[in-house]
Amino acid sequence: MVKNPSHQDFDPSIHMTTFKKFKNFKLFEPSVGILGFLFITVCVVFGFFYLDYKSVVTGGGFRFTKQSDRFRWLKFAGYSGYGRKRFDFFSGDGDRCDVFDGDWMWDDKYPLYQSKDCRFLDEGFRCSENGRRDLLYTKWRWQPKDCNLPRFDAKRMLENLRNKRIVFVGDSIGRNQWESLLCMLSFAVTSNTSNDSIYEVNGNPITKHKGFLVFKFRDYNCTLEYYRAPFLVLQSRPPPNSLPEIKTTLKLDQMDWTSLKWRDADVLVFNTGHWWNNEKTIKGGCYFQEGAKVNMEMKVETAYRKALETVISWINTDINKTKTQVFFRTYAPVHFRGGNWRAGGNCHLETLPNLGSASAQSSSTWPQFHIFKDVITNRSKNSSTEATKVMNILNTTVMSSMRKDAHPSLYYLGPNLSPSAVHRQDCSHWCLPGVPDAWNEILYALILKQAVVVSGTNGSSIVHSPVQ
Ligand SMILES: *[C@@H]1O[C@H](CO)[C@@H](O)[C@H](O)[C@H]1NC(C)=O
Ligand SMILES: *[C@@H]1O[C@H](CO)[C@@H](O)[C@H](O)[C@H]1NC(C)=O
Ligand SMILES: *[C@@H]1O[C@H](CO)[C@@H](O)[C@H](O)[C@H]1NC(C)=O
Ligand SMILES: *[C@@H]1O[C@H](CO)[C@@H](O)[C@H](O)[C@H]1NC(C)=O
Ligand SMILES: *[C@@H]1O[C@H](CO)[C@@H](O)[C@H](O)[C@H]1NC(C)=O
Ligand SMILES: *[C@@H]1O[C@H](CO)[C@@H](O)[C@H](O)[C@H]1NC(C)=O
Ligand SMILES: *[C@@H]1O[C@H](CO)[C@@H](O)[C@H](O)[C@H]1NC(C)=O
Ligand SMILES: *[C@@H]1O[C@H](CO)[C@@H](O)[C@H](O)[C@H]1NC(C)=O
Repeated sequence: MVKNPSHQDFDPSIHMTTFKKFKNFKLFEPSVGILGFLFITVCVVFGFFYLDYKSVVTGGGFRFTKQSDRFRWLKFAGYSGYGRKRFDFFSGDGDRCDVFDGDWMWDDKYPLYQSKDCRFLDEGFRCSENGRRDLLYTKWRWQPKDCNLPRFDAKRMLENLRNKRIVFVGDSIGRNQWESLLCMLSFAVTSNTSNDSIYEVNGNPITKHKGFLVFKFRDYNCTLEYYRAPFLVLQSRPPPNSLPEIKTTLKLDQMDWTSLKWRDADVLVFNTGHWWNNEKTIKGGCYFQEGAKVNMEMKVETAYRKALETVISWINTDINKTKTQVFFRTYAPVHFRGGNWRAGGNCHLETLPNLGSASAQSSSTWPQFHIFKDVITNRSKNSSTEATKVMNILNTTVMSSMRKDAHPSLYYLGPNLSPSAVHRQDCSHWCLPGVPDAWNEILYALILKQAVVVSGTNGSSIVHSPVQ
């Protein structure tokens, strides 16, 4: 077993480098003085916090709330950090707001829930229960630059989803987001864990390996569903008489078979990206197929592009656009430092985000994001392609790239086996509570905005809220 690193290896120089970055990028903001002061304040208080670390940790579980008096004076005067006026996202002016352009702000009212109170989480996401001791990563709220997001109101969301189905389709990062939303919504229903008003319709437990899971909120007759389809397109057996090295193929021109189950959903949230690499395809004998032909030469990048085209065309032709609201969440960056996940890459020493949007990780590490952007841009040029207008883009890549502090790192193996070996870290999924909660707060705002617009209660003529 390795030593628990989060405490022992705490390195004050992290504060300094972060501060330097912060200073560089905020230098030309009018309110840099205030921000600088606040940031130094944070550093001091973090130091203060760490000095008293043992007393927080002993006794186990979350004692963080009891420490909150110490943090109270840090409240940052609400939303005035940028020194500019922001409007409410639900107001008419909200249409002009890019909710994905902003920064992470310390907020004492966060997190929205505690993992130990939520029975819907995979143990892989329960970082603090698995032994992660710094809880600072749970205290950041996403703040768009030009507007204020509504505070998440689970009852209001459930009211909006009454008699509806909301479906997440994608890889395990999509599942990460789905479980986050389950937790966020479940607290509206009951503080009473014995009352089974939320249940899996087939009686399946939450485990990593289920193809799909459907949770029903009984009192709202609404379901929150997850379908595992890491490529979104169909993976199947190779055609007869194929070369022996072809174990499976990805049919780039066909949607995953589960699409029959979810194409009628009221809200669809797609994601894909993490599986589009050599390791998870060609190296494992999974080649790319179009029509009846397997193309042994095709590069993963080309295949990914074609798969995205297929998804967009499918949205265009197979979805009832009056009924179904479609979201596509962009790539969630990983934060392996010093190698990939196999080569000892790590993120376990990270306890603070990169504040200041420009200090985000270099975008050259997100080929999937750029390919997606390319495909969308190309598609938007084609005015007969409605799909890009119907599809709302959850452009979460940049905001998430600032959160190198928010991955499970060593704390994903459950309470007994964690921490993992130092060279086997999880720097791709996200701790919960954490970053996916922020994605869902945005999702919430977009869904509700749409509802307000469609029901005509507050007269904007725009039918689909602009996400870009
Ligand atoms: C429950 O919701 C489903 C759609 O998800 C709908 O078909 C059904 O009629 C609803 N049941 C009731 C009792 O409203
Ligand atoms: C929880 O549910 C049980 C059984 O329905 C009930 O007796 C109890 O009062 C509930 N507790 C709360 C806090 O609602
Ligand atoms: C749970 O709560 C619902 C109302 O929300 C109630 O109808 C049901 O009887 C309760 N179940 C139990 C086991 O207490
Ligand atoms: C599409 O959905 C709307 C709203 O639910 C419904 O009224 C309409 O009949 C549907 N259209 C088709 C072709 O199924
Ligand atoms: C743009 O989209 C069209 C089809 O809509 C496709 O034929 C073309 O190859 C695409 N170009 C690029 C650069 O992806
Ligand atoms: C535009 O989109 C339509 C429908 O998907 C397609 O049939 C057509 O070939 C596209 N045109 C171009 C120029 O890409
Ligand atoms: C419509 O907007 C006004 C002012 O912006 C607000 O006071 C009112 O509550 C809104 N109505 C609804 C139904 O959201
Ligand atoms: C997402 O946001 C980034 C940074 O703000 C921007 O460069 C990019 O064009 C956006 N992508 C899409 C598809 O909207």
